[in-house]
Amino acid sequence: MQLNINGKEHDLGNIDASTPLLWVLRDQLNLVGTKYGCGVAQCGACTVHLDGTPTRSCVLPVSAVAGRKVTTIEGLASNGKLHAVQQAWIDHDVAQCGYCQSGQIMSATALLQRTPKPTDADIDAAMSGNLCRCGTYVRIRKAIHAAAGTNHE
Ligand code: FES
Ligand code: FES
Repeated sequence: MQLNINGKEHDLGNIDASTPLLWVLRDQLNLVGTKYGCGVAQCGACTVHLDGTPTRSCVLPVSAVAGRKVTTIEGLASNGKLHAVQQAWIDHDVAQCGYCQSGQIMSATALLQRTPKPTDADIDAAMSGNLCRCGTYVRIRKAIHAAAGTNHE
């Protein structure tokens, strides 16, 4: 099976087609920025983009991904420059323990692709599936507005 991850083709050989994408990313391709939280599509820690749409990789069989484009947190920066959302996360010190944050960032970047100037309500709706046990939600919202170039202090 061939997978396109972060713009590169990977040959997975004869992998079991039912293997969740998350484990292919982490265990086979060593892309460990995508995290395992619940394993049952409830927390958002494992979020990646599938053809640009935020998708939970913990419940997605790798067979569903063949011929499609996957982007992980490792693929967001380009030419050594962080994505605006990643930079805003740093500028606003969003992370606490950090565990949920790559999933949060993947959902936030997808939101801004669809809705370049989101309102608080847009952000809350788009991010509601990404849980953060450290409660960083207020900083997440601020960083998304900052990345969008809107100021909502
Ligand atoms: S690990 Fe996939 S949604 Fe929680
Ligand atoms: S920063 Fe700790 S779970 Fe979100």
